Amino acid sequence: MFRNEKDRNSVADIQSVDSGSGSGHHVKEQQNNLWRCGMKKNEFLHSLRGTKQKYKRLSLSPIRYAGGKSLAVGHIVEALPNGIKRIISPFLGGGSIETALNLRLGVEIIACDILEPLVIYWQQQINNPTDLYHELSKLRPDKETYKEVKNQLKRYWETKKGLSDLEVATLYFFNHNLSYGPSFLGWASSVYLDEGRYKKMIERVRDFRTEASFKVSCESFEQLFEKYPTDFFYCDPPYMLKDDCPTSKMFAGIYPQRNFPTHHKGFNHGVLHACLENHKGGFVLSYNHCEKTTQLYKNYIKSHPTWQYTMGQGETRISFNRKEGTNIKLSHEILAVKI
Ligand SMILES: C[S@@+](CC[C@H](N)C(=O)[O-])C[C@H]1O[C@@H](n2cnc3c(N)ncnc32)[C@H](O)[C@@H]1O
Repeated sequence: MFRNEKDRNSVADIQSVDSGSGSGHHVKEQQNNLWRCGMKKNEFLHSLRGTKQKYKRLSLSPIRYAGGKSLAVGHIVEALPNGIKRIISPFLGGGSIETALNLRLGVEIIACDILEPLVIYWQQQINNPTDLYHELSKLRPDKETYKEVKNQLKRYWETKKGLSDLEVATLYFFNHNLSYGPSFLGWASSVYLDEGRYKKMIERVRDFRTEASFKVSCESFEQLFEKYPTDFFYCDPPYMLKDDCPTSKMFAGIYPQRNFPTHHKGFNHGVLHACLENHKGGFVLSYNHCEKTTQLYKNYIKSHPTWQYTMGQGETRISFNRKEGTNIKLSHEILAVKI
């Protein structure tokens, strides 16, 4: 459970202060620990500083993912409390934020996603990277193999039987990472059907090692809110579609795939809002910017971060954070935070 003696001590110190039994010495120790964690976070953020953007992209996850947050890592880590030890993430997807927190800052992750083959892939990636690499190294990144893999994965998706977890993870990774988009059961990307690229890609699978506990389950987000009522959550739900809010710029669902967006179209944004309103712990929520999301989370919106800033993309609307009349363009994202 504890990575080393230092971690165990820091938890013990914090507990003794929280329970009110801490001596002056313990209080000082706790402050030192939090300061050290804060330093770690600050050093990490400093290492991500960019020139054009506030923070550079960080991609530690071996999988590509639609709606991935590799450009948002700095903004989201900045919004988290210093010294946080564990994060609950109910919409894992490609896990950009979770891998950064776990691998670079040693934060424990408890995550879920509703897409079963993705969850099986993550479980194998975390617990069985060497076998997963060996299975992937048997496949050739060419059109014929892509077609065969897609057919096998489609059969599994329709019947939910006939394959071991290692086989599902192998097929899922191959199909998804070599696809255009990327997209589940999608079309091959000519860019990714390439020996050299494929070799590098699967070496990342082989070399992936977590720094602290990282658990992934296949369930819907409500269940994690029920199980962890006081923990800190990071939520990156499917973005609100135009069907749900006329000012949304997202016309069609993408999860798990544009042609069958069963985990996106009809997603219950109201239930997520109720879970977050009733939650006793803190949270960071990344969402798309539209009237309904800003209305629902008006008490928590911290910023319109600039990882997808539309500057220079031809829009001339007024920034949310600027005085009326200044002609700065809007970000498409919002970050809502409760500490
Ligand atoms: C925006 S993506 C997360 C992207 C991720 N942050 C990344 O960096 O790759 C949203 C995820 O929510 C998942 N999802 C959709 N409905 C869900 C539900 N009811 N419960 C849990 N996960 C769900 C989708 O499968 C998708 O992977």
